[in-house]
Amino acid sequence: MLLDDIEQINSSFNSDLESVKNPEQLEKIRIRYLGKNGSVLQLFEKFKSVPKEDKPELGNRLNILRSELTEKFNHLKNEFEITNKISSKQLDLTLPGKKNEIGSKHILTQTMDEIKNIFKGLGFSIVQGPEIDSDYYNFEALNFPADHPARDMQDTYFISKDFLLRTHTTPVQVRIMEKQQPPVRAIMPGKVYRNEAVSARSYCVFHQIDGIYVDTNVTFAELKGTLVSFAHSFYGKDLAYRFRPSFFPFTEPSAEMDIHCFNCNGKGCKLCKGTGWLEILGCGMVDPNVFKYVNYDSEKYSGYAFGMGIERIAMLKYGIDDIRIIYENDFRFLKQF
Ligand code: DAH
Repeated sequence: MLLDDIEQINSSFNSDLESVKNPEQLEKIRIRYLGKNGSVLQLFEKFKSVPKEDKPELGNRLNILRSELTEKFNHLKNEFEITNKISSKQLDLTLPGKKNEIGSKHILTQTMDEIKNIFKGLGFSIVQGPEIDSDYYNFEALNFPADHPARDMQDTYFISKDFLLRTHTTPVQVRIMEKQQPPVRAIMPGKVYRNEAVSARSYCVFHQIDGIYVDTNVTFAELKGTLVSFAHSFYGKDLAYRFRPSFFPFTEPSAEMDIHCFNCNGKGCKLCKGTGWLEILGCGMVDPNVFKYVNYDSEKYSGYAFGMGIERIAMLKYGIDDIRIIYENDFRFLKQF
């Protein structure tokens, strides 16, 4: 009977399929059941001679058999293809190895950390202040009189009449002194903002570290000693340096520190613009007018202060000639440090 044949082929196909281990075996099964001389087509041959009245029912059963077997075959074939793809991928010994990219500290963070560690070793604590500050802290208490042209030294982003993005980290000095009586010995790292045209040399945001030391009998000689010790730790022991007179409203006297250009050893090159010297920071003795704002007795106390730009220091140390690249986060640049 055709109906029995259908049942029998169906179950033997299923059990054959269960024991299939590879695509070659599967193909053999396809030929056996679904091929040109396969058992399913043979049933269609037999079907021709069944009585007319049985044809609709049996024809339907035959069609179902063929489509079910085809579907099961396709499904398994597909699975073999997927596992084949995966296993051939795993075994491709010619593929380059997988690299785990390991992140590293940004060049600015590295430079900051190094500077902080040097000053920590010299007994300085680390203090943070707000990036949005008032005109009072950023200028007035630092002895920049209102409408004084010295304010033009630092192009300012004003938020309102009285509030601004700090143009330097020096205002944190005032905040520390307001809270604490001498001795005060701290450095103040952080972001600062200037409304300057962006170029290879200047950016609208950068980083500074200020430092201050106030106590009885603090002298300019101590300022020099501290800064020379810092420069030697950071740039190397034999580096020549000099202090040049300068002006800042909040220090008197004021100076700038230069180091011998390490690129040309003082002979003059592109980096030092032919002078042989590189300016690395500003400094001076805290102006007694600043002490007045924080109620320090300038007869009793004296202090020194200094401030440096981190980008500049990093650029000098690593020979980076465009400040903008520090902020672009180009992997090829970052990976070098
Ligand atoms: N605040 C100054 C600037 O941004 C740098 C500076 C100079 C800071 C002398 C100081 C200092 O603390 O004593 O240009």
